[in-house]
Amino acid sequence: MEVFDSYESLKKVLNEGVGSIGMVPTMGALHEGHLSLIRRAAQENQRVLISIFVNPTQFEEASDLINYPKTLVEDLKAIASIDSKTYVYVPKTNDIYGQNALTETFDLSDLDQVMEGSKRKNHFQGVATIVKFFLETFKPTKAYFGQKDYQQLQIILQLAEKLNLNTEIIGCPIVREVDGLAMSSRNKHLTPAERKIAPLVFKALLEVKEMSKNKKYSVLKSFINAFFVEHSQLELDYFVIADSKTLLEISDQDKAREGRAFIAVRLGKIRLIDNLDLA
Ligand code: PAF
Repeated sequence: MEVFDSYESLKKVLNEGVGSIGMVPTMGALHEGHLSLIRRAAQENQRVLISIFVNPTQFEEASDLINYPKTLVEDLKAIASIDSKTYVYVPKTNDIYGQNALTETFDLSDLDQVMEGSKRKNHFQGVATIVKFFLETFKPTKAYFGQKDYQQLQIILQLAEKLNLNTEIIGCPIVREVDGLAMSSRNKHLTPAERKIAPLVFKALLEVKEMSKNKKYSVLKSFINAFFVEHSQLELDYFVIADSKTLLEISDQDKAREGRAFIAVRLGKIRLIDNLDLA
């Protein structure tokens, strides 16, 4: 494992070496979900590049950015245990952005206007800015992203296509705790009591999946509303069934089971998101 804090020196080493590069962009606080992406990148490529960078342009609130969990020593230990030629890019903000961390503006074809995008105004422009930087700078053969952030994955797939970035974007399955909670770096901030009830979010999605076989969307929505009234520690932010490519919400006439269910819930100070293919 080699660690770099400057993209210029990393780029030089990558250019001097040979073999395909699988990149896994992360914001650190690595968990089994990230490690599954890194292992897959290692299986499919000769070299693996992992970035650990908490990207300021994708955060709306300064407090969220400051409080984002940071576990660099443990992250590097976990990466070192993976049997592959690994490069880790851990930059300071100015290595990427210079003195001003500015967001580029992309036409994201409204994929950024729904769900997470409607709640976090410039979030996806910030994500697109940093992902474009990584893909253009390091030119990985493949880049790996988790389906936990399914909307982000669709936006990156489209961005790579529109900008003709020469990297294959690979979406990988959500990794869950044994009780069903989708793994996320932010789960570290849940209190023990919150952690116990957090799996209810996935339980609600599983019930929706079962009901979607013969119930209309409006019935599923009423079910979800009632579910979160009953479990009132979890505050429903949104529940949407949408087309898995366009992310457009389905109508009551559509077959719910052909869509994908998306949910965001507030639990104490933490926002949990999850999604499930209903097919
Ligand atoms: O999913 C994330 O961790 C981030 O949004 C990403 C893709 C690393 C960009 O900062």
